[in-house]
Amino acid sequence: MDRTQENRTSHRPLRAVDIIIKKRDGLALSREEIEYFVNGYTAGDIPDYQTSALLMAIVLKDMDDREATDLTLAMAHSGEILDLTPIIGKTVDKHSTGGVGDKTTLVVEPLVAACGLKVAKMSGRGLGFSGGTLDKLESIPGYRVDLSQKEFLDQVSRIGIVLTGQSADMAPADGKLYALRDVTGTVQSIPLIAASVMSKKIAAGAHTIVLDVKTGNGAFMETLEEARKLSILMVSIVRLSGRKVVALLSDMNQPLGCAVGNALEIAEALETLRGAGPKDFHEHCLVVGAHLLKASGKVSSLGEGRTMAETALQNGSALEKFRMLVQAQGGDVRVIDDLNLLPKAPVIKTLTTVQVGWIAGIHAREIGETVIALGGGRAKKTDSIDHSVGIVVHAKVGDHLNAGDALLTIHAKNSVDFELAQERALAAITWRDKKTDPLPLFYGVIE
Ligand code: URA
Repeated sequence: MDRTQENRTSHRPLRAVDIIIKKRDGLALSREEIEYFVNGYTAGDIPDYQTSALLMAIVLKDMDDREATDLTLAMAHSGEILDLTPIIGKTVDKHSTGGVGDKTTLVVEPLVAACGLKVAKMSGRGLGFSGGTLDKLESIPGYRVDLSQKEFLDQVSRIGIVLTGQSADMAPADGKLYALRDVTGTVQSIPLIAASVMSKKIAAGAHTIVLDVKTGNGAFMETLEEARKLSILMVSIVRLSGRKVVALLSDMNQPLGCAVGNALEIAEALETLRGAGPKDFHEHCLVVGAHLLKASGKVSSLGEGRTMAETALQNGSALEKFRMLVQAQGGDVRVIDDLNLLPKAPVIKTLTTVQVGWIAGIHAREIGETVIALGGGRAKKTDSIDHSVGIVVHAKVGDHLNAGDALLTIHAKNSVDFELAQERALAAITWRDKKTDPLPLFYGVIE
């Protein structure tokens, strides 16, 4: 029997090592094997080292759509699946596949909740170079991201919005796998991302889901083709579970908005909720919000959805919803009116340009990794993060700058970190002496 056949014909009990070998050799795993692994890891019977090996084998050898669907369902069923309909009616959710400066959830979820949709969302932490909504929210002193299922349900019924982490009750397999993938170089995989995103969505019971699938150098899917493939897979998995779904393909070749870093992104989200955020981010939020409003049936056209979303920003109701959210989850609501109460880095310096020209590129991943190196993300599962550090990029691709214009503000915990970040961030920006077009915000919609 050759090596690729070993352990495949026998009927002996399943073992983690055999499953790893099977995937290492590029074979498709059965539903039983996938469930065995997911349940074993969730229960603590299969250790991190074997799970890391399987994850890496999946990254290298891929999974077909049937395996990805089985993985999603096994992860979703690792905990409880909520059916919110009898308690609170239909709920909506949006999910980004991860990017740099992507704080969309913080604006869009309160925005659509202010328009009358019920938002029941479980978010994640930073993953690789991309930031995570939970880490951002924890910049607000006291904000709790560990609600129990009962608290989750009570809060959506009471105020129409909840933004929490995965509780031990819901998709616990994703909670564990997500943290492990973050530090084992196993994020970049279409089936792993699809299963991670969709298991949470299925477990949290939303009926309408808008997926914000990022593509570009600051996304896990660098090419449009990969992002499209991931979108099609996720859309088909959601459809199987009988829910409504739309995937938007959006640009991540430069940071979204200006702020990158946990507390800085909370500040920018609050400015956007006040109608004073960066233009690209403001527009991105209106488009995602309009899709959620339309997909949920609240409005009949995207134009109507956009008008409703614009009104919720202008009349302050979206900001008020965010205030209710922070209050309900134990956060210090004073932060909303006084950004100085957010964590502040000891060293804050703005770099101005010495040249005249057009910005041709702002390498999003490099900016994201520089923020991680400043302490804004994790290198190991157990690392704590510094919420105060980060970078504000004052320009966008296509902008024309003159000497002396503000280019970057770096927030660091000391001057050594500042110097290193300055060098890396400046190198992430490319210039042209000719007019350069701005980058598009979106590349398409998959329904
Ligand atoms: N977002 C998730 O929830 N999971 C991933 O794997 C990537 C982005």
